[in-house]
Amino acid sequence: MPANALDAAAVNSGELSVADMKAAAANKAAGAQSTSERRRSSVTTEKVKLNSGHYIPQVALGVYKAPNDGTTENAVKWAFEAGYRHVDSAARYMNEEAVGRAVQEFVQKGGVAREELFITSKLWDADHEKAAEAINDSLKKLQLEYIDLYLIHSPGNLGPEARLKAWKDLEDAVDAGKIKSIGVSNFDVEELDHLLANCRIKPAVNQIESHPFFAHEELREATIARGIHVQAYSPMAQGAALEREEIKAIADKHGKSSAQVLLRWGLQIGNIILPKSLTQSRIEANAEIFDFVLDEDDMTLLNSLDEGLKMGKLGPAGTSAPGSRRSSNSGGAAGGKLAMSSNA
Ligand SMILES: NC(=O)c1ccc[n+]([C@@H]2O[C@H](COP(=O)([O-])OP(=O)(O)OC[C@H]3O[C@@H](n4cnc5c(N)ncnc54)[C@H](OP(=O)(O)O)[C@@H]3O)[C@@H](O)[C@H]2O)c1
Repeated sequence: MPANALDAAAVNSGELSVADMKAAAANKAAGAQSTSERRRSSVTTEKVKLNSGHYIPQVALGVYKAPNDGTTENAVKWAFEAGYRHVDSAARYMNEEAVGRAVQEFVQKGGVAREELFITSKLWDADHEKAAEAINDSLKKLQLEYIDLYLIHSPGNLGPEARLKAWKDLEDAVDAGKIKSIGVSNFDVEELDHLLANCRIKPAVNQIESHPFFAHEELREATIARGIHVQAYSPMAQGAALEREEIKAIADKHGKSSAQVLLRWGLQIGNIILPKSLTQSRIEANAEIFDFVLDEDDMTLLNSLDEGLKMGKLGPAGTSAPGSRRSSNSGGAAGGKLAMSSNA
């Protein structure tokens, strides 16, 4: 694959704006730029177009398990300084205030305009019947006039009617200018189809677990086939498999780390990836994935590693067969009571 195959693929499918194409061309011609500037420019400019018409940066800083204090403010600030423009938070993470403070600070000190940032939050399961209030609460905590992407965090256990009521509130918030794009997370095919049959605005994304050890391929394909983008959470399998020899061998071949190999795999299969870190050096390294390409052998090997290593307790099992999730014991959300898992 040529170095800019991702750019080319995105342009071919009409997913890049003219500005993005210019930026990609500038990247190619960036002989005068330093390596770090080029990497920064890529993590800033690589975007895909959602079915809402809005563009989303393909790499986000995830902030799950990040505290509502200066630790997270610093992480978000380091990410912005490293070129990230996208942060994935959630009401359930209870750190929207810290994210909001970091956004305000970066914008106010002249880092970038608010419009250049892409901020995601999510509606927690208990709030499906009061989503309008929850959206206002998130806006307030984030100190934002609008949220770029707002997701139903999981199908939850209040039932399909509550889910549809929540979706209607999300649609109304789009009309009111409070949210730009709306989507879902941890939805299986059945739940996606139920929503698609009853919605006015189509979900723009389905945020699901996806990494080489649990690629979620059937659900990925079904999601994409419905015109919905896949956002991949736990793209490094929460660090659980970074010592695996197969990954290290590929990493050594490219002079990269195992984490960078897993993230690059996600990019190359078209996922929007959400690597989480609170460590400055890792935040920076996790953005340095645009200066190498996994070749066919690498991809074949990585694609062969799916062994159902599911890290999250939320979300469908690794099959999209209707009903499979409810009868499985893999922690699927739809069938039973959803305790706050360590993997929300
Ligand atoms: N929608 C959902 O239900 C859902 C579920 C789970 C996650 N998510 C989203 O997806 C994001 C990412 O998922 P995740 O947090 O589960 O897992 P992840 O991003 O795969 O892994 C995060 C873990 O890897 C470590 N790490 C980060 N960069 C590393 C590197 N370069 N080398 C070695 N270790 C590294 C982090 O430690 P340090 O922080 O100490 O650096 C952290 O322990 C979350 O933050 C959240 O935004 C959504």
